[in-house]
Amino acid sequence: MKIQIKPSTVHKNKSKSRHGFTLTEIMLVVVIIGILAALVIPRIAGRKSSDIATAMREYRSGAWPSSVMGRIAKGFDDSQIDAIAAWFAAQPE
Ligand code: HEM
Repeated sequence: MKIQIKPSTVHKNKSKSRHGFTLTEIMLVVVIIGILAALVIPRIAGRKSSDIATAMREYRSGAWPSSVMGRIAKGFDDSQIDAIAAWFAAQPE
């Protein structure tokens, strides 16, 4: 005699399986990424404008090793670097 298993019996728990993430889980991941970013990304607000501009040029030329800043700095020309540096220097620390 041939035994047949009905699919509904095999997948009886299917309705309980969860797909995707809850809002709480997504919020937790966003908070953790935020904390890690705050630890790794240096604060440059209020620093001397010329120091910020020099750092950007050194990153851009590759003279200073970097993880991300070399790629970011390559997107700006000299006048843009000076404008960005002046803006950051004018921000409260
Ligand atoms: C136009 C925007 C930005 C400017 C003007 C800027 C400027 C700077 C400066 C002046 C430093 C040197 C800080 C020091 O030596 O204490 C630095 C380092 C750094 N910045 Fe930025 N930054 C910018 C955007 C970003 C962004 C968007 C990120 C993250 C995605 C970032 C991540 C870092 C990291 C990780 C370092 C350490 C060096 C490295 O590993 O690349 N920066 N940045």
